[in-house]
Amino acid sequence: MQALIEKIRRREARCAIIGLGYVGLPLGLEFARAGFRVTGIDLDARKVDAINAGRSYIVDVSDAEIAEQVGAGRLTATAEFATIADVDTVNICVPTPLRKTKDPDLTYVVSAVNEIRKYLRPGQLVILESTTYPGTTEEVVRPALESAGLQAGRDFALAFSPERIDPGNASFNTRNIPKVVGGVTAGCTDVAAALYAQCVERVVPVSSTQVAEMVKLLENTFRSVNIGLVNEIALMANALGIDVWEVIEAAKTKPFGFMAFYPGPGLGGHCIPIDPFYLSWKAKMNGFEPRFIELAGHINEGMPRFVVEKVTDALNRHRKSVRGSRVHVLGVAYKAGVNDVRESPALNVMKLLAGKGAILSYSDPYIPAIREEQIELDSLPLKNGFLGNVDCVVILTDHREFDYRAVAEGAPLVVDTRNALQGYTGENIVRL
Ligand SMILES: NC(=O)c1ccc[n+]([C@@H]2O[C@H](COP(=O)([O-])OP(=O)(O)OC[C@H]3O[C@@H](n4cnc5c(N)ncnc54)[C@H](O)[C@@H]3O)[C@@H](O)[C@H]2O)c1
Repeated sequence: MQALIEKIRRREARCAIIGLGYVGLPLGLEFARAGFRVTGIDLDARKVDAINAGRSYIVDVSDAEIAEQVGAGRLTATAEFATIADVDTVNICVPTPLRKTKDPDLTYVVSAVNEIRKYLRPGQLVILESTTYPGTTEEVVRPALESAGLQAGRDFALAFSPERIDPGNASFNTRNIPKVVGGVTAGCTDVAAALYAQCVERVVPVSSTQVAEMVKLLENTFRSVNIGLVNEIALMANALGIDVWEVIEAAKTKPFGFMAFYPGPGLGGHCIPIDPFYLSWKAKMNGFEPRFIELAGHINEGMPRFVVEKVTDALNRHRKSVRGSRVHVLGVAYKAGVNDVRESPALNVMKLLAGKGAILSYSDPYIPAIREEQIELDSLPLKNGFLGNVDCVVILTDHREFDYRAVAEGAPLVVDTRNALQGYTGENIVRL
């Protein structure tokens, strides 16, 4: 292990990243910037081709940043796993979705680990970064890798390090978000920490892979539960005729003991709606019935229906039914500033509206087209006067690129689920 640490410190170690998505690509880029030779491995040929051509497909990463590292010979991509035989470190950054039953789907992790096992050799470091339930590294990854005959902690190093990247966040990135690391042995933690220390400002070692896995789930459960709480407060405020946004703004002035969370049309993205259920599943497997996670999930998943109720009521006040009304959606990405629609609540809202017979259209500068069951639409440009000709505008994602004054002043009816029209008043504006 000491030899690998020395090689890492000299930045002579060769690194592989499996899965070049929102997590893997920025991480690989950071390793390359630190001077390592990095090979990204992905099954998606379009991503492999884009990287090798110096092109990015992720909002936070520019073409120039990729091209610089590819041009310098520090970053390359391939679909061939055989390259693992030549590298010293392997980071696994593949998806960890849920099955329809809300059980963990580790298919991608297992498939990546099975590929690594074929090429694993003594002296290598393997780190799982995909979000997963506590115990995955020890119970799933370790036995699979050790079945090749090598032992973790003795022949190769094995660790878990949760990825905390926040796509679209201008202040925090792979480099300045502290990196939690837990190895299957203290020696494994040291090797993995040495790798991250080359390019991440702060490394936080913990005592085990289980602790590192649980850290990520605590963080995301914290968000899911607090968003669930504020969504319920929004429903309550609605019943009481109180403006929840004004309440939050005022509560936020308390300098301690309060952290603002905001209501909205529901949860989206690959993390917050999914990860807490990994924890919930594992807890249930151990005879513990988690309540907060399930309750928050229940409330958050109900928000699209509440938005549709708001739209229905708003149209009703204009003597219109949802069926046959032209409803234009602003923003379908799961949050502002990202080009990702995975789990986006906007899709649920749109499907519910389509089911009621609304004539849907949408604009999103980040999402040129939606190709989903029930919704096949292209994003429309917001030409002058366009919003005046629809029956209702629904703001589902508050991208900065929208001209909110034009929305507030031009649309006959707006249902604003993000308080994007803060500061504007009018009979035509309905807030969540
Ligand atoms: N997106 C985020 O904001 C975020 C933040 C923190 C943690 N995470 C976690 O990180 C992990 C990855 O998420 P992501 O958003 O980067 O996913 P992603 O879908 O953007 O990227 C995953 C990539 O892995 C590739 N892939 C799938 N199976 C593979 C295999 N067997 N071999 C090689 N490549 C394979 C896919 O083609 C894809 O390019 C997940 O566990 C997620 O929960 C994501």
